[in-house]
Amino acid sequence: MIDTQKATKDVQLNAPTRENMVLKVRDLRVHYATPLGDVIAVNGISFDVYPGELVGLVGESGCGKTTAAMALLRLVQPPGRIVHGQVIIDGTDLVTLSNNELRRVRWRELALIPQGAMNSLNPVIRIKDQIADGIETHEGEQPKSALKERILKLLNMVGLPGRVYNMYPHELSGGMKQRVCIAMAIALNPPLIIADEPTSALDVIVQRVVAQTLLDVKKRLGVSMIVIGHDMGLLAQLVDRIAVMYAGNIVEIAPVKEIFAEPLHPYTQLLISSIPSIKERKPLVVTEGLTHDLRNPPPGCIFQLRCPHVMDVCRQVTPPLRELKPKHFVACHLYE
Ligand SMILES: Nc1ncnc2c1ncn2[C@@H]1O[C@H](COP(=O)(O)OP(=O)(O)O)[C@@H](O)[C@H]1O
Ligand code: SF4
Ligand SMILES: [Mg+2]
Repeated sequence: MIDTQKATKDVQLNAPTRENMVLKVRDLRVHYATPLGDVIAVNGISFDVYPGELVGLVGESGCGKTTAAMALLRLVQPPGRIVHGQVIIDGTDLVTLSNNELRRVRWRELALIPQGAMNSLNPVIRIKDQIADGIETHEGEQPKSALKERILKLLNMVGLPGRVYNMYPHELSGGMKQRVCIAMAIALNPPLIIADEPTSALDVIVQRVVAQTLLDVKKRLGVSMIVIGHDMGLLAQLVDRIAVMYAGNIVEIAPVKEIFAEPLHPYTQLLISSIPSIKERKPLVVTEGLTHDLRNPPPGCIFQLRCPHVMDVCRQVTPPLRELKPKHFVACHLYE
């Protein structure tokens, strides 16, 4: 059952620069139909992204990050479907567009680097042809020399040498392949890029290189990004604001410094205290625990089964996402 009390759509998310926002998401809900009932994968999320801003979406595996990212581009596949909400870019709600209109917007306004993108590069097609294909699909056939120049520029933008132009995916390392995917995402110059776990399948050093590439792209092109990840420590080094997701809900949003200085939601507190530190050896905090069945969420707070501070009210009333301090939003009864 959808919990309509969690109507965060009217929340004034960072109101002062509202006109300038690149993306406005309101009360977005996505379900997957199963024989045993709908899995509520995204349960009414609302947030904004501003020009040139990097927003991190963090949460454990299965909390709905990929589903949310796909829903932003209306790419959720059956048995999934968007059941409610708005995804507004430049005054247009993508949820209401026809498929033809949507095709025009996608990749030009909003590009996605899907989870595992580097593994879905076609192994038998050269990098130059895969990037060219993306450009020509949207812009029609291009003069050969201009196209080559443009692709070389894109490769340079993501820190790859020109020789990659003629190479095949299997000749590249994981980090290089991921940077090719970033080049493809920026090819049509969209103001917003969504990167789903762009560093997750890479080893630590390469993770940093790819993270730095994203930062360089943001700086040089002035794009906004939503970067999805499950590693709060790594995301913190990359993004301006963090949205913490739990079981399909955004439970806290705040600027990075603020959320680390004063995490308010008990789940955010657990996430932060479980980041290992060399300087300060501390006992490992166990954050694992039973979550509820996503087909049948309990009434009240979504985190109640794992929360060390659960109260009676938490089992009855869903806490709304409220702005407790400027730009710091939290959904928890502890602060009422
Ligand atoms: N095709 C599907 N059918 C049923 N449930 C699905 C399907 N795809 C994803 N889910 C469920 O939706 C929830 C969110 O998944 P996902 O968006 O992939 O999470 P994340 O990216 O945070 O790991 C999970 O509980 C997952 O099991
Ligand atoms: S609302 Fe209650 S159960 Fe939910 S996080 Fe806050 S204290 Fe815990
Ligand atoms: Mg995912």
